[in-house]
Parts: sequence; C-alpha cells; structure tokens
Amino acid sequence: METQGKRTGWKINPIYREDAFTRKNEEEDAIFYSLDRFVDHLDSLALSTVEKIINSLVIEKKPAILDLMAGWNSHIPETMIPSKVVGLGLNRNELEKNRSLTECVFHDINHDFHLPFQSEYFNIVMNTVSIDYMTHPVDIFMEVGRILKPGGLFLVIFSNRMFSEKAVKVWRESSEDERVILVQEFFNESGMFESPSVFVSKGRPRPKDDKYANSGLPSDPIYAVYSDKKGGDPLRGRRPTIMNDYGVGWTPEEVERKKKRVKETLKCPYCGEKMKKWAVPNNPFSYTWDNDFMYICFNDGCQYYVRGWDHMYREGNRGISYRLMYNPENDCCSPIPVRSSESLRDGIIQE
Ligand SMILES: C[S@@+](CC[C@H](N)C(=O)[O-])C[C@H]1O[C@@H](n2cnc3c(N)ncnc32)[C@H](O)[C@@H]1O
Repeated sequence: METQGKRTGWKINPIYREDAFTRKNEEEDAIFYSLDRFVDHLDSLALSTVEKIINSLVIEKKPAILDLMAGWNSHIPETMIPSKVVGLGLNRNELEKNRSLTECVFHDINHDFHLPFQSEYFNIVMNTVSIDYMTHPVDIFMEVGRILKPGGLFLVIFSNRMFSEKAVKVWRESSEDERVILVQEFFNESGMFESPSVFVSKGRPRPKDDKYANSGLPSDPIYAVYSDKKGGDPLRGRRPTIMNDYGVGWTPEEVERKKKRVKETLKCPYCGEKMKKWAVPNNPFSYTWDNDFMYICFNDGCQYYVRGWDHMYREGNRGISYRLMYNPENDCCSPIPVRSSESLRDGIIQE
C-alpha cells in the first residue's frame, strides 16, 4: 500500500498519514483476542438490522460465505442456506461455538494480510463490526477481491462502538460520517470493486429491554458499505435495496390521506404520534416563516425521520436527517433538517 501524499476529497487523505494505522495497544492481536467475549457487540435492534442487511443483499443461491474477523455470531439469517460459511478469526472458543460456521480458520490478518484461500473461491465476504481493527485495510481489500468470484459481494458493516486500544488511529479520530468515507476509500483504493454503496440506519429508539434503554442513548447506529467485485455478470443487475423495517408501514396513499387530516388531528401522518408545538426561533438568519409556532413530530422511531438518515446519505448529505413539520398557517407538511435526535428540542412548547 502506498503511504504518502495521495489526495482525494480531503485536503490530504488521512489513510495516507504515516501513523494512520497505529494503535494504542500494539501487542499481538492473538493475545488480546484470546479472552473469550461471548457478548453482543450491538443492541438487539441493531443486531436485527445487521441480519436484514445480509438477508437483503445476499441474493446468491447456496452461497459460499467468508465471515472475515468472525466471533461467536455471524448474523446470518436462519432462513439462509449457504453451501459453506468459513469463519476467520482469532478466538478458538468463539469460533467453535458459532452455529453458522461450517469451517474455522485461525489467522491473524494484521500479521499477514494474505488470506489463506484460493482465488475466486467465495460468493460473499462479510466483515462485521471489525473493520476498525485492520492495520492494512487496502491490502486486505485487495485480498478479498482476489478470493471473491467476479460479481461477488464484499459487505462491511460497522457501528460506533470499539475496543479503543485496538482500533487504528485514523478510525478513532474520524467522525462516524468520515468512517463511511474511509471504508469507501478502502474499496476504491483496492481497485478490485465497483463503486461502493452505503446504507445507514441511525437515530432509532433503543429497545425497551436494553440495559441502556433509559439512558437517553439511541439504538446503536448501523452503517453498511458494500460493493461487488468487478467483472460480474452484467445481466444480473444491481443488488436489491436493503429492506429495513422502519416501524409503521402505511402505504403512500394512507400517508397522503393522513396528511389531509393533520389540521384536525395534529398527528404525524407517518407514525401517528401527536406532534409537538414548537416555537419558531427568533433568528433572522435561520428561518423566514411568519408564524410563531409550528408542529413537529419528535418521535425518534418515526419512519420519516429514521429513513431520512439513509436517504440524505444517498443524496450526498452526510450526517443529516429531517423531521416532519406541520405549518398551521398554510396547512402544509414539510421536512425540517436535523443533525441529531436532540436538534430543535429546545423549541418545544409544553402544553
Ligand atoms: C468486535 S469482534 C466482532 C466479531 C464478529 N465479527 C461479530 O460481528 O460479532 C472483533 C473480531 O475481530 C477478530 N479479529 C481482531 N483482530 C484480528 C486479526 N488481526 N486477525 C483476524 N481476526 C481478528 C477477533 O477475533 C474478534 O472476534
């Protein structure tokens, strides 16, 4: 991998900084991961999103799958019937207890980035909540490209938790949005893949049974960056869009009907929750509405708001979603942009 002086959208691409892939703890990974960790690295809603992503994107019949940097759970839906699932990781007990795996391989990819598999062997390679620990990601992405069949999928899924001492510097120091760009860069720099796609699920309420449910934390965000290896069958077309379940699934017609009744109900036409009265800020630079207040849906589980993160990402607007706002003056609904679940809440008028 080249290490100096390359330029991209950043002034200087941080993946080419000399210390980008250094870690606070440089002891052998095999030592760090010799400790069994039979824990969930994500909350249950986020875990179900991971399964949905895999279920939506893996369209091959009886695929040969590699779970790269595997632990005790590969998140492969029970309804999927792969021809084989190889788990490559460092913890023997975890891999042996992983019910999806048909084969375990113990190999330290930071020690030797060459993957111990023949070329064009797998249909799918997935890497879940582990990309932050790769010290030679571009080399590894090239290797993944080598062992995938043409048109095969490399699916990288991550969230925002990490073993900080083992995560590489560039990952630790990047924002969540920048991490998506980093992974896109790994794909692009490897030269083996089509232009990568992105899926984002964030800002959803934490499941009620979660130990942090009452801490004000939202559910763990899920980011997926994925791409097919170049050279696939041009007739197969693109992989399907990831199907997430965003709560109430009203049809667009039902939503339109509910929009017409917002004036009398003051309920969000997307989730049915009562909207909150919200004071328009007295700020000449931000807003130009004449009225003193609006109604906004502040439900963090509202499909309109939750989908917004992914929609805005796809449009190139990173780190932004929107909430549904009702203007009582002109009886119209429109989106109002937000950067987090807390945005705009200062203006809520208690009634
Ligand atoms: C946070 S866990 C994620 C496990 C699993 N992918 C999941 O979704 O639950 C990180 C995993 O990466 C593996 N890993 C870390 N460094 C590795 C390395 N240098 N080579 C191979 N595997 C590694 C560890 O064995 C560990 O299971």
